[in-house]
Amino acid sequence: MRALVYRGPKDVAVEDVPDARIERPTDALVKVTATNICGSDLHMYEGRTDVEQGKVLGHENMGQVIEVGSAVDRVKVGDWVVLPFNIGCGFCKNCESGHTGFCLTANPGSAGAAYGYADMGPYAGGQAELLRVPWADWNALVLPDDAEEKQLDYVMLSDILPTGWHGTELAAVSPGDSVVVYGAGPVGLMAALSAQVKGADQVFVVDHQPDRLALAAKLGATPVDDSQGDGVDQVLEATRGEGADKGVEAVGYQAHDASGKEEPGLTINSLIAAVRPTGRIGVVGVFVPEDPNAATDLAKKGQFAFDFGTFFFKGQAMGTGQANVKQYNRGLRNLIHAGKVHPGQIVSQEMDLDQAVEGYKNFDDRLDGWTKVVLHP
Ligand SMILES: NC(=O)c1ccc[n+]([C@@H]2O[C@H](COP(=O)([O-])OP(=O)(O)OC[C@H]3O[C@@H](n4cnc5c(N)ncnc54)[C@H](O)[C@@H]3O)[C@@H](O)[C@H]2O)c1
Ligand SMILES: [Zn+2]
Ligand SMILES: [Zn+2]
Repeated sequence: MRALVYRGPKDVAVEDVPDARIERPTDALVKVTATNICGSDLHMYEGRTDVEQGKVLGHENMGQVIEVGSAVDRVKVGDWVVLPFNIGCGFCKNCESGHTGFCLTANPGSAGAAYGYADMGPYAGGQAELLRVPWADWNALVLPDDAEEKQLDYVMLSDILPTGWHGTELAAVSPGDSVVVYGAGPVGLMAALSAQVKGADQVFVVDHQPDRLALAAKLGATPVDDSQGDGVDQVLEATRGEGADKGVEAVGYQAHDASGKEEPGLTINSLIAAVRPTGRIGVVGVFVPEDPNAATDLAKKGQFAFDFGTFFFKGQAMGTGQANVKQYNRGLRNLIHAGKVHPGQIVSQEMDLDQAVEGYKNFDDRLDGWTKVVLHP
């Protein structure tokens, strides 16, 4: 089958690899019809993880089931399914409590597994013609009969919509809250959308990419361009000096200033400043325990100066981590089916799998207008 393979920093290729197949009775095999490039893939693409050469990438996948193992009961051949990027077993302590992003079975020795991702287990990704889905009855979300027609919406259930939602859950966004989101990438935009579904009164989205900020405005948020003055000051000014009630971090450890200089603590410390006393902050941007190619010795160890004094003094709280996609995807699927949310509206490019190399390059360069790339194998 054709698949997008990691070769080295800024080096990916579409190649022929052995077909994905049923390996265990609980597996299903999916013909991938839509698979996205994610900001998380860029951490690998840029050589900022230890992902192995030859790995098939792609964790945001949907498609049609073409074969099921002998122990699969619920999912049927012909079903349209979307797969959470996290792979869970369904029976470990964390899966049982809904923390499917931290499955203790799927990636032994660690907590959490995913398709096609560094340190997330041996699973191949779905930027390929075929995808093996482990524990298919547990992991596959079956889609209604508008699956094919609303593909660009439903494929966002694999990651960014539930992840944006998770950010607002970690921040405990409630009706009437003001919310500040750092990052107007796909995840930040989905956090802004989620906050509005939850009844937020005003949502600020901070970034320095004008095209992405324009999308934030289109989604009903207030764009804050921090290349035109400190984002924190702008949020404080718009909230009578109080700060926003809640905050979401959707940038991660490669946070940088408008000139491109990286500083991993930049967004976290800005959120501590921009959120009001007793406010909550949800961190879904990825941070890593080791980052050997970082600019400073501290950052190489995944550490940075955290403004804990202010955080404590303001009585704030913070929640972090991978999104437990399965906790939210069923309800969010129903909102898409009912026409109440349209996450696919942020898709900027649809491409063939064979064009994926160009897709990675342009998305990584954050070329104007390249917000979210969907590949159709
Ligand atoms: N927790 C999870 O389960 C989960 C799931 C998916 C993605 N992620 C992570 O979420 C983050 C965002 O993903 P994405 O796909 O939107 O990525 P992206 O790279 O497309 O977007 C990140 C955005 O952050 C902006 N940015 C950079 N520095 C900034 C700063 N100092 N202030 C404000 N904005 C800044 C960039 O301009 C960019 O628009 C990544 O770290 C990704 O790995 C986490
Ligand atoms: Zn993703
Ligand atoms: Zn589990």
